Amino acid sequence: MAFDAAALAAQLTTQRFGRELQCFEEVGSTNTVARDLARAGATEGTVVIADAQTQGRGRLGRTWVSPAGRNLYMSVVLRPRLPDTRLGQVSLVAGVATCEAVREWCDALLKWPNDVLAAGRKVAGLLIESEGEANNRFLILGIGVNLNTTRDDFPEELRDKAGSLRMATDAPVERERFTASLLGHLERRYDALHVHGFEPLRARWESLSTLVGAQICVEEPAGRVEGVALGLDDDGALRLRLSSGAEHRVVAGDVTVIGGYQSGS
Ligand code: BTN
Repeated sequence: MAFDAAALAAQLTTQRFGRELQCFEEVGSTNTVARDLARAGATEGTVVIADAQTQGRGRLGRTWVSPAGRNLYMSVVLRPRLPDTRLGQVSLVAGVATCEAVREWCDALLKWPNDVLAAGRKVAGLLIESEGEANNRFLILGIGVNLNTTRDDFPEELRDKAGSLRMATDAPVERERFTASLLGHLERRYDALHVHGFEPLRARWESLSTLVGAQICVEEPAGRVEGVALGLDDDGALRLRLSSGAEHRVVAGDVTVIGGYQSGS
C-alpha cells in the first residue's frame, strides 16, 4: 500500500518537522531528492518519503536494501545553527531520536555512531550528508527503518544481522504512525541540542548504548583497532582506550562488541 500522507499529517505532533512533506512511489534515493529541494531553498524540517528506493545508500558506500511498501525511507532537510565542529552531534542526536521511536514498539539500543539494534539485529540506520558553507550549510538526514521486512526479504548475507520491528514484535507496524512518532522525537531532540547543548544528549546516548566500558573492535578505513569504549567526544567521535594505555578517537568505521551486545536500559 502507498504511504498515506494524510494519515501521517493527522498524527503529527511537531511544529516544523514533516509539515512540508513530499511522498513518492519510487525514487533513486530520498537523500538525493531532499538535497535537490534544499538546494532550491526548502525550509528546515521538509521531509521526503518514498515507498521504494532503487539506489538506497548506506554508510561507508554501502547499499540500503529498500523493498517497496514495507518500511520507512525518509530524508529530512536540516539547517543547524551550530558551528561546523558540532555538526557530528546532529547525527548522534538523530540516532537517539530514532532509538526512542523504535523503543515505543520494542526494546532497542544504539550502536555507534547511530545504528539501532532490536533483538540483536540492525533495524535502522542513518546517513547524514552535508552541503554548503557556513551560513548556507544544510544537512540531509536520511533514515531507513525496517518496519515490516521479514527475514526472507533480506539478501542472504544480511539475514543473520538485519532485522525489523515486525520480526522483533511479531506484529505489523503502521508506517504513518511510526513516522509521526519518529518526527516528534527528532524535532524535540534536535531543538534540545540547540537550546541545552550536547551534554544532556551525550548522557542519553550513553544510556541507550551498552558500549561504554565494553571491549570493542573497530574496522576503521585505515585498519582494525581494539580497545575499551570510554564514551563520546564533543564532536561525536568515539573515544577508545587502547591496550597500550593510549587514547584513540574513532571518527568512521564499524563497531563490534567483543563478546556480543547486551540489552540496554
Ligand atoms: C546505514 O548504512 O546504516 C545508513 C542507512 C541509511 C538509509 C536511508 S533510507 C532513506 C535515506 N535514503 C538513502 O539513500 N539512504 C537513507
